Amino acid sequence: MMHRKCIRNLATALAALMWAACGDPQPAAQLPSPDAPARTEELRSPDGKLEVRVSDEGGRLRYAVNYDGEAVVFPSRLGLLFRKHFGFDEGMAIAGATRRSGDSTWELPWGERRNVRDHHNELLIEARNGASGEILRIRFRAFDDGVGFRYELPKRSGGRMDIVKELTEFALPRTETRAWWIPSDRHNRYEYLYRTSGLDEMDRVHTPATFRLQNGIHLSIHEAALVNYSAMSLLHERPGVFRAALRPWSDGVLVKAEPPFVTPWRTLQISPDAVGLINSDLILNLNEPNQLGDVSWVKPAKYVGIWWAMHIRDRTWGRDGVHGASTEEVLRYMDFAAEHGFAGVLVEGWNLGWDGDWYSNGEIFSFTESYPDFDIARIAAYGREKGVELIGHHETSGHITNYERQMEAAFQLYKDMGVTMVKTGYVADAGELKWIDEKGIPRFEYHDSQFMVRHHLKVVQAAARYGISVNPHEPVKDTGLRRTWPNWVTREGARGQEYNAWGSPPNSPEHTAILPWTRMLSGPMDFTPGIFDLRPNERPPVREDMPRNNRGDIVPTTLAKQLSLYVVIHSPLQMAADLPENYEKRPNALQFIRDVPADWEQSIALAGEIGDYIAIARQERGGPNWFLGALTDENARSVEAALSFLDADARYLAEIYRDGANAHWRSNPYSIEIERRMVRATDTLSLQLAPGGGAAVRFVRQ
Ligand code: NOJ
Ligand code: CA
Repeated sequence: MMHRKCIRNLATALAALMWAACGDPQPAAQLPSPDAPARTEELRSPDGKLEVRVSDEGGRLRYAVNYDGEAVVFPSRLGLLFRKHFGFDEGMAIAGATRRSGDSTWELPWGERRNVRDHHNELLIEARNGASGEILRIRFRAFDDGVGFRYELPKRSGGRMDIVKELTEFALPRTETRAWWIPSDRHNRYEYLYRTSGLDEMDRVHTPATFRLQNGIHLSIHEAALVNYSAMSLLHERPGVFRAALRPWSDGVLVKAEPPFVTPWRTLQISPDAVGLINSDLILNLNEPNQLGDVSWVKPAKYVGIWWAMHIRDRTWGRDGVHGASTEEVLRYMDFAAEHGFAGVLVEGWNLGWDGDWYSNGEIFSFTESYPDFDIARIAAYGREKGVELIGHHETSGHITNYERQMEAAFQLYKDMGVTMVKTGYVADAGELKWIDEKGIPRFEYHDSQFMVRHHLKVVQAAARYGISVNPHEPVKDTGLRRTWPNWVTREGARGQEYNAWGSPPNSPEHTAILPWTRMLSGPMDFTPGIFDLRPNERPPVREDMPRNNRGDIVPTTLAKQLSLYVVIHSPLQMAADLPENYEKRPNALQFIRDVPADWEQSIALAGEIGDYIAIARQERGGPNWFLGALTDENARSVEAALSFLDADARYLAEIYRDGANAHWRSNPYSIEIERRMVRATDTLSLQLAPGGGAAVRFVRQ
């Protein structure tokens, strides 16, 4: 029934919209008939494969995207609505179109590659609202690996304008489309296991949200340069049609904007295969260049920390248990770090405020006063002698005003102690970040609201003044701002390793086979890999009043897979998360963590399918050696890695850390083989990955 109705309607100019509502078969995105009094503008990527068309048919602005002649986005609405003032929804006409092209290469001071090529064609649409005469500009950039567009509101008198709705839609093909996503309206922020489903099961989801269309085209929807705006999630409004849903402030306003302003870029990464999404630099290319000038003080590093011990209940953050952050314990970690080449030791639980229920104690945290058993000056001096830095920690428990009041003094203290990296934390349920407004009234905001977008940038900019890099946990999602503020080095913003300690439930074996195509498309993640005792909850408790987490909750990977994460999950601050004593028991496997860098000259996703497996190769920054990480979900598989990324004229010693013959994440996780052999660029490595397993390889140029 539905299908026949669709076909009839195809003749009309509204057909394109109906396809999205009625399902497939769907021809490539069709534009209004030429005799309609509508204007259509077209933009193509430099390689000509990606095509964007923008039209004002019926007084409504719409865009559509094709790739290789196939529809990726059916005609979808564009526009914004403002409270009290006016909207850009109806009566819109394209009044002008300007075209430009860009082809340049710029340098990332640290990251997954040094040189980034920005090759795009641009179309700037100027649209006028017939009733108000107001102008909305929409800037599109088409790259070979996707498209981005943003709204630009020119200067006008009248002051602040509150956005009450963004009309942007993404109308996607529905038949046989697979999606990987997390919900965006639940208490646990971004910390959910990814769901794999068809579109119909999606309600409101965070971005990056990733899709594989029936024809094999891969698409990931996200945003770039989220500055002074609220984060976008995707609301599944009508079958197949997602709308940009903006997180509101506590007073209900979505965005408090003052023209002139630009919105974040709405981004669509598009690739004929899965790995193409990972090899794309679209998000970074749509961010502004570095604003901080010389950032040689931003140092990618590997670190250890007084951290996992708290999560597995060996230690406590506060003094109501066995306090982890004692001077003695920190010095022990510093000795370990110095011996094994780790640049820093993160210390959590050093400052007043952790005793009792610290989740709810945001207002009592001090960021300058230590517990009496933590001698910060002595620790910093000891670290200096050993060449190991103290890494700072500011857990706010979501009390933003309490933190902002102390922030400058807190960074000053750390600066005085030689600290150059600080992890921050915003533990609080979604919508429960607290601040006290000008009238003294407590208000509660979301982690991805405009309020928090502003807060994070405030912290990053303040930290930069003290020569400090930041690593927020429970953050707002990444949208590539590290390009503009390179001291925003990494962040959490997904389920990390900590869930493997807490359980309820631990991360699934496929979790890290989905992250590269979802969370990781947005930027680096402080996942905290490197757990060597994969059964931490099976040990007897340290004290009776500190019971372990559920015994059944294990770290669901093999040992080799823990090593592979150092290559697969990029983070310029990369932790070796386990306890020193657990590393000392396995010096051979530890060697890989000692050798692997946290900063790269180039990175190439070689092979993979979302949720199944991935293989990534990366060359160390400023050096000749390469590294390869491959991991699989719960299924064993063999991954063939062609080594053509190696220098054709050289021979390399491959140090291969791989699952042993009967390794299995559940029954035999520690079985690991370390093999050395000579290889060349013409070779192919065949890597046998165990269920829940992985492989890590270092290629040392001879
Ligand atoms: C949650 C963070 O993800 C974790 O890394 C940290 O240890 C705790 N909050 C305490 O700040
Ligand atoms: Ca967390």
